[in-house]
Amino acid sequence: MKNVRIKDLEFKLCYTSDDIQSDIDVLSSKLNHDFKDTKTPILFLSILNGAFMFTADLMKRIQFPCEISFIRLASYEGTSSTGTIREIIGLTDNIEGRTVIILEDIVDTGLTLQKLYEGLTKKNPTQLLIATLLFKPDAYKGSIKVDYIGKSIPNDFIVGYGLDYDGLGRNLPNIYTIVE
Ligand code: IMP
Repeated sequence: MKNVRIKDLEFKLCYTSDDIQSDIDVLSSKLNHDFKDTKTPILFLSILNGAFMFTADLMKRIQFPCEISFIRLASYEGTSSTGTIREIIGLTDNIEGRTVIILEDIVDTGLTLQKLYEGLTKKNPTQLLIATLLFKPDAYKGSIKVDYIGKSIPNDFIVGYGLDYDGLGRNLPNIYTIVE
């Protein structure tokens, strides 16, 4: 499928499922290298809804002891960030003294990440790292270092592979970019 229409908007194919899987291969290899000697399980914290596909594909490649938990936040309405962060499902794990890796589908303005990072830091993890499949460097306003990036992309609205437009398009195996 080269083009998809979702509600009032037209999107064109930009990253195929194969592109995405090879980015995840590279990203997971870096993580496996960096954590190969870990003795205590690393806690992955996946941000729902968007990161569900990325999380599933990444986790299948992880070769060190790890656990996975999910948290749900929202900062988007339509095709632009609202800047309002709502925590819908909270964290139940005790992260004190643990290494935590946040899993994001995409880091855009970084506002979501900033809030989450500040909240989690108060819970005293030993180390708090960020892994994102996609990163929009031209939109990023944050000061936090994004430790693991699958792919840096232009500042355009995209859908598919977990990313949505008003709740739709998350099921698409490829990623599509908006046609202006
Ligand atoms: P931020 O707070 O602006 O960094 O946005 C973070 C969240 O907004 C991501 O986790 C996504 O769920 C959503 N988001 C950001 N950019 C896009 C996009 O291009 N398409 C769909 N959702 C996006």
